[in-house]
Amino acid sequence: PVLVVDYGAQYAQLIARRVREADVYSEIVPHTLSTQEILAKNPSALILSGGPSSVWAEGAPQRDAALFQAGVPVFGICYGFQVMAQALGGTVAKTGAREYGSTDVAVDVTDGAEPSSILEGTPATQVAWMSHGDSVTQAPEGFTVLASTPGAPVAAFADESRKLAGVQWHPEVRHSQYGQQVLRNFLFQIAGLKPTWSTENIIEREVTKIREQVGEGRAICGLSGGVDSAVAAALVQRAIGDRLTCVLVDHGLMRQDEVEQVEQDYVAATGVNLHIAREADRFLSALAGVTDPETKRKIIGREFIRAFEAAEAQVLLDAKADGAKVGYLVQGTLYPDIVESGGGEGAATIKSHHNVGGLPEDLEFELVEPLRELFKDEVREVGRQLGLPETIVGRQPFPGPGLGIRIIGEVTEHRLYILRRADAIARAELTAAGLDDQVWQMPVVLLADVHSVGVQGDGRTYGHPIVLRPVSSEDAMTADWSRLPSDLLARISNRITNEVEEINRVVLDVTSKPPGTIEWE
Ligand code: XMP
Repeated sequence: PVLVVDYGAQYAQLIARRVREADVYSEIVPHTLSTQEILAKNPSALILSGGPSSVWAEGAPQRDAALFQAGVPVFGICYGFQVMAQALGGTVAKTGAREYGSTDVAVDVTDGAEPSSILEGTPATQVAWMSHGDSVTQAPEGFTVLASTPGAPVAAFADESRKLAGVQWHPEVRHSQYGQQVLRNFLFQIAGLKPTWSTENIIEREVTKIREQVGEGRAICGLSGGVDSAVAAALVQRAIGDRLTCVLVDHGLMRQDEVEQVEQDYVAATGVNLHIAREADRFLSALAGVTDPETKRKIIGREFIRAFEAAEAQVLLDAKADGAKVGYLVQGTLYPDIVESGGGEGAATIKSHHNVGGLPEDLEFELVEPLRELFKDEVREVGRQLGLPETIVGRQPFPGPGLGIRIIGEVTEHRLYILRRADAIARAELTAAGLDDQVWQMPVVLLADVHSVGVQGDGRTYGHPIVLRPVSSEDAMTADWSRLPSDLLARISNRITNEVEEINRVVLDVTSKPPGTIEWE
């Protein structure tokens, strides 16, 4: 693989994704690995990421020259560029000229000539995104300086004979106009790699791995209706067919037609063996009289474990009856989850809900995690390639506790019925307006304990307000409220107040996160 050595900024994941967008497999490793440890992984090329340090700061991560002398192509970005310069005898100086944001890069070309090396195919002046305090003032011996900026006399360099190159700016960031071209030049021209990482290859590889792992065993997978579990299950299904059983716990808190949609579309697309545990009554009785959000969440979580384990135990019993020794549990863990929890080596941990609630001790599980190496956009591609419908692969996030945390007040069947209809209208109109891609998600929240006065027809009404909470976000950690077109908001409002009894008011939540969370509870 191409190894992205993470020097501690948030950019390493972005770099790895961009490399994969160029159809080359990449993984992230921490900068704390020694040069020997890195080389032992047989990288086809290395990319040193940016990072928050100054190479002059005490304890700043450095690199010995050996990494650059091993014959492995290396590309340095920002801090990684300075690390390379310093390790090979160039000069990095505190010039005092900080550059942050969009910067004009002047590419060194003799009049009229095309830029060469890593800047090939890019114009003589280009906008790139920068964030640095120190600058390389002298390239190491053997390197050609390729570009400069007002604050960085050496903004790009290369020594093609040694397959080494670097840039001071961030090519992985979209604001860098020719960033992807620069990365491709490194991967294909300088490192001489081939674009072999394709969705077809991912599927083939994972299917082989799953077959090796599971052998003749049986597996179980919880489906939530979300993208990750759906794609993970589809991959496992492709590998072991009927020996996979999917369990969907219908807690009665799904949106309109959601369970039916998974049942029909998903099974039609995959032929998967699906067991639907219809447990709405169990959840509704457990939630009766409860209004506190955290208590609701705990109850839903607890009942969910019970319902899932009951189904799980049955599947395992069947496996035992067949003489199959081990139960395999499929999980839709993604690569970012693994990187964020510290690197991906070592034993996998079962998601917390499997560690609580008391699984019988003689049940043995082994995890199957076919998405461990993938980013979300790759997961969606794999899903499409496996024939999953857009209603599943393009689905916006939906919380596990479902509509239970979108009814402010006690959850009752009638309130769920009202909320489902309002939510279905809002979603249908958003889709019809072609805005699904621009909105991260749009919770619709029923203020069930609030009454508002209205006038409908000739009469006074005393109904409930509904809140629209459309947000835009990259990762749900922070979010901003989406500026939806007002005619779309008007259509949603008209339809909901006309078509859903007891709703006489539609309000828009215009709070960013922070301070508001995306969900109301
Ligand atoms: P908040 O409300 O914390 O939500 O801003 C952030 C994101 O997480 C989703 N969410 C959940 N997802 N189980 C889930 O699987 C949950 O209990 C849960 N609570 C919130 C929420 O929809 C948003 O995308």
